[in-house]
Amino acid sequence: MRREPLAGERVSLRPLGREHLARCVVWFNDREVTYFLGREEPLTMAEEERWFNDYRAKVDEEIYAIEVQGNHVGNVGLHGIDRSNRKASVGIVIGEKGQWSQGYGTDAMRTILRYAFRDLRLHKVNLDVLDYNDRAIRVYEKCGFIREGIRRDELWKRGRFANLVRMSILENEFSA
Ligand SMILES: CC(C)(COP(=O)(O)OP(=O)(O)OC[C@H]1O[C@@H](n2cnc3c(N)ncnc32)[C@H](O)[C@@H]1OP(=O)(O)O)[C@@H](O)C(=O)NCCC(=O)NCCS
Repeated sequence: MRREPLAGERVSLRPLGREHLARCVVWFNDREVTYFLGREEPLTMAEEERWFNDYRAKVDEEIYAIEVQGNHVGNVGLHGIDRSNRKASVGIVIGEKGQWSQGYGTDAMRTILRYAFRDLRLHKVNLDVLDYNDRAIRVYEKCGFIREGIRRDELWKRGRFANLVRMSILENEFSA
């Protein structure tokens, strides 16, 4: 687990700490944010703290707070880091809605991909995104992700089933 921040162009990725959790709880209870995420259920601070204690014991997950000029605006993380097959999944959220579409998500994604491919020596990074999340898909395509396929009716979202798009990027497709 890394202790030092990762430097992007405009963002800094700082290893997620206990001090970040209260803000995460606000974001993960915001229906405008969770519309774009896999999880919808309300989240309590106690649940978040329990999750954080489990997370700290894991060796296959690394989550970073996205900071802009010292302000925590979102999180990005690698999940299921599989060192045998040199792959992981990535997840990202800019929880501060006022900061959407300012370029921070793209910068944070490029920064974590650079770390995944150069430092962790991964071969492949993948993700799932709701098919209506055009902004996220645009960010992923800008970073070099390619669509692998559709996972049909994978989630129940706001009264209907929704499709997930599975995307991935290989080490030789990433140009830092
Ligand atoms: C998805 C997310 C991480 C992207 O980060 P961001 O900082 O908002 O995105 P950026 O500013 O880096 O880039 C957004 C791009 O999408 C474009 N865009 C914005 N709104 C769009 C829309 N409705 N449709 C298509 N493209 C859109 C922007 O023009 C920009 O592209 P450009 O640089 O070519 O102009 C962030 O918006 C977010 O966290 N949203 C809510 C949670 C979420 O969706 N998480 C991802 C789950 S898979």
